Amino acid sequence: MILILLGPPGAGKGTQAKLLSAEYHVPHISTGDMFRDHKARGTELGKQIQAIMDAGALVTDDVTNALVKDRLSRPDVADGFILDGYPRTIAQAEYLDGLLQSMGRSLTRVVSYDVAEEAIVERISGRRSCPKCGAVYHVSGNPPRRMGYCDRDGAGLVQRDDDKPENVKKRMAEYGNKTEPLKRFYRERGLLANVDGIGTPEGILAATKRILSK
Ligand code: AP5
Repeated sequence: MILILLGPPGAGKGTQAKLLSAEYHVPHISTGDMFRDHKARGTELGKQIQAIMDAGALVTDDVTNALVKDRLSRPDVADGFILDGYPRTIAQAEYLDGLLQSMGRSLTRVVSYDVAEEAIVERISGRRSCPKCGAVYHVSGNPPRRMGYCDRDGAGLVQRDDDKPENVKKRMAEYGNKTEPLKRFYRERGLLANVDGIGTPEGILAATKRILSK
């Protein structure tokens, strides 16, 4: 199974990708997580993308495509994978088409989560993440057992730099201008399915699984 999850910032792509990854036993590949990992480790790439990400802009297509190409060369993708946050531009989608073709593989489905802007603002403002293991919480919707600390490893939870209100605006604009056109791109190829992103994570997972079983 090769799946792409689309949706605006805070739509719940990462939350669903983790659930789907556990369900179908395929890796969850998040370009956002990979970039944040580079930032946290202070790599050359991390330094190069820090300001771009913090401002809510997109990293260049060349840099992003190279990162994905490298990730898809690993053996754990043999049975499939879930892409979260990639592709994000038409150029990235075209690059991915070529890459999959060169690997003799093809996309199974593209699932787009629809969430209204008010819900997105609420989700993003309440999101807290573990800098150590990447677990994602929400202060009211999905709180950790001990407020401020990760259930899995006890690390102090943090708010993402790009989750500040002014940067969220920029991310929403980037999504509308550059990523939303991908819906048409994949609809024309008969691959797009829309899923209502409002509801419990388990309910949305069930709706996604129904689409994947068709
Ligand atoms: P990325 O990390 O991909 O950010 P994003 O697309 O803006 O998505 P988010 O991670 O904000 O949200 P999500 O949809 O995963 O929601 P989540 O499940 O966390 O990218 C970050 C940056 O990296 C970009 O801005 C860019 O700079 C760079 N980048 C990444 N990929 C790139 C690419 N391909 N090209 C160029 N640049 C790239 O949920 C959000 C909150 O809601 C959480 O608190 C969660 O607990 C809660 N929640 C989830 N589901 C529900 C639910 N059903 N009900 C209630 N609350 C819920």
